[in-house]
Amino acid sequence: MTDVLILGGTGWLSGRIAHGWLEAGADVTCLARGGRAAPDGAALIVADRDAPDAYAEVAHREWDHVVDVSSRAAHVAGAVAALGDRAAQWTYVSSMSVYADDMTAGADESAPRHAPARDGQGEDDYAAQKVAAEDAVAALGARALVARPGLIVGDGDPSDRFGYWAAAFLRAADGPVLLPPLDGKTAQVIDVDDLAAFLVTASPGSPVNAIGDARPLGEVLAAVRRAAGHEGATVIADADRLVAQGVEYWMGPHSLPLWLPEEMTGFMTRSNAAYRARGGALRPLADTIARVIDDERARGVDRERRAGLTRAEELRILAAVTEGPAGAR
Ligand SMILES: NC(=O)c1ccc[n+]([C@@H]2O[C@H](COP(=O)([O-])OP(=O)(O)OC[C@H]3O[C@@H](n4cnc5c(N)ncnc54)[C@H](OP(=O)(O)O)[C@@H]3O)[C@@H](O)[C@H]2O)c1
Repeated sequence: MTDVLILGGTGWLSGRIAHGWLEAGADVTCLARGGRAAPDGAALIVADRDAPDAYAEVAHREWDHVVDVSSRAAHVAGAVAALGDRAAQWTYVSSMSVYADDMTAGADESAPRHAPARDGQGEDDYAAQKVAAEDAVAALGARALVARPGLIVGDGDPSDRFGYWAAAFLRAADGPVLLPPLDGKTAQVIDVDDLAAFLVTASPGSPVNAIGDARPLGEVLAAVRRAAGHEGATVIADADRLVAQGVEYWMGPHSLPLWLPEEMTGFMTRSNAAYRARGGALRPLADTIARVIDDERARGVDRERRAGLTRAEELRILAAVTEGPAGAR
C-alpha cells in the first residue's frame, strides 16, 4: 500500500488531497495541530510545526509520498530537513503569487519570481515565503513536484471569493447587482477537485502552474448569473467611483472579488500548457459553478463572509456610483 504523509490534511485543499489519496487506496496520515478533523479513514498526528520536535512521530517511517501545503518557509524547510531522506516523492503546493511580474499576459513557469524571504523575515509576505519554501523543496531534486495553483474555487472555499458572485446574484433576486469594470479583465480559476486529483497523480518534475483557462471576467460572471437565475439589472461601476467608495480589489471584506487593478492585468492569464501536458484535467466551468451555487445556498447567501460586500453595502454603493453624470454605465 502507498504510504502518504500530508503535512496539513485538515484544511480545505489539503483535506481534498487527503481524500483523493484515500480514494486511490493509499494509507494516509495527516499532521496538523488538531483543531479540525482529518478526513474519515486518515490518521491524524497532532503536532505544531513551530515546535522543534514537530516531526518526531513521523520521522521514524519511510514515506512513499509527502505532501506539504504550508505557506511558512521555516515549516517547509524544517520538514525537508526532517523527512526529506525518508520520502520517495514530495509534492509542495506553492502559488502563482510567486511570480514578480503581474503584467505580462500568458507567462509560463520560467517567469521571474519574487525574492525569497530570508531567515525569520517577511513572515507576513506570502509571496516571499512561498518562494523560499519552493527553494527549500528544490533541494529534493528529481523527487519533488512544486505545483503553483492560481485561484482555487469550488464548494466549501473558505476564502469566499468566487462564491461571492453566486451569492450576490442569488440574494439580489430581481434586484440590481453591482459589477466591477469588465473591459479587458480576465478570470482564471482551478476547481479544487481538479487540483486535488492532479496533485495525487502528477509525476515529479519542474514546477507547474496549476490553473484553468483564462476567460473574460464578464463571461464568467455572466455564466454565474445565468446559473443563479438572476434577471435583475447589472450595474457596471467605474473603477474610480468604486475606489472612492472604499471598495477593495480581489479579496477580503468590502471587496468586489476577482476584480484586479490595471497593474495586474497579467495575473489571471498565465499559461497552463504544462499543467495540461502533464495530465492535469479541467472540468467545464459550468460544473464548478453549479456546485458553488448549491454550496452558497446551503451555507446561506446572507451569511457573514470573508470576501465581498454585504447586500446593504452593495445597495449603498449602487446608489452612490449611479449618482451624477460620470456614474455607472
Ligand atoms: N485558495 C487559493 O485560491 C490558493 C491559491 C494558490 C495557492 N493556494 C495554496 O493552497 C494551499 C491551501 O491549503 P489548505 O486549504 O489545506 O490550507 P489551510 O486550510 O490553511 O490548511 C493548512 C493545513 O496545515 C495545518 N497547519 C497550519 N499551521 C500548522 C502548524 N503550525 N503546525 C501543524 N500544522 C499546521 C492546518 O491544520 P491546523 O490549523 O489544524 O494546524 C491545515 O491542515 C496553501 O498552500 C495555499 O497557499 C491557495
